Amino acid sequence: MEAKIVSLSLMLVLLTLATSTEASKYQFLKLKETNIRFYMQDWETGLKATVFPIAGIPNKPWQVTRFGTVMAIDDKVTVAIERNSSQVGRLQDIYVNSALDGTDLHLLVSLVFTNKEYNGSTLEIQGADMFYQKYREVSVISGS
Ligand SMILES: *[C@@H]1O[C@H](CO)[C@@H](O)[C@H](O)[C@H]1NC(C)=O
Ligand SMILES: *[C@@H]1O[C@H](CO)[C@@H](O)[C@H](O)[C@H]1NC(C)=O
Repeated sequence: MEAKIVSLSLMLVLLTLATSTEASKYQFLKLKETNIRFYMQDWETGLKATVFPIAGIPNKPWQVTRFGTVMAIDDKVTVAIERNSSQVGRLQDIYVNSALDGTDLHLLVSLVFTNKEYNGSTLEIQGADMFYQKYREVSVISGS
């Protein structure tokens, strides 16, 4: 009986060692920070509109500021704010107004790069967009 307890505690020590070795493997890796600035050419009206309501609450207007409205978007992504500046990708996404008082969008965004360097790579962005606030943070959840 005593031998069993000893071997069990030995196993626990070994497990702890294994776990701490695993943790220390990553301890000295520095996180890399990448800053990307881009502009979405987002047009809600006109012949070249890029944003459209595709669903909403029946018998209510489908508007971005109204709870339940779903929008589909395909925006040009550019390096500068001017409409004719160089394109680096497309922002292809859907979002739904997900707050009963209309103040929050839930975003599901794919940033698809089309420039030479990252052609075909993507960043996936998802989360709450409280669009009445001047600055918002939305998670980058994955990419390829
Ligand atoms: C974009 O348009 C502006 C005004 O029409 C022009 O001055 C500028 O040179 C254009 N830029 C590019 C990159 O074509
Ligand atoms: C990006 O990839 C597509 C599909 O392979 C290709 O048609 C296009 O020319 C590429 N663009 C650039 C800028 O390399």
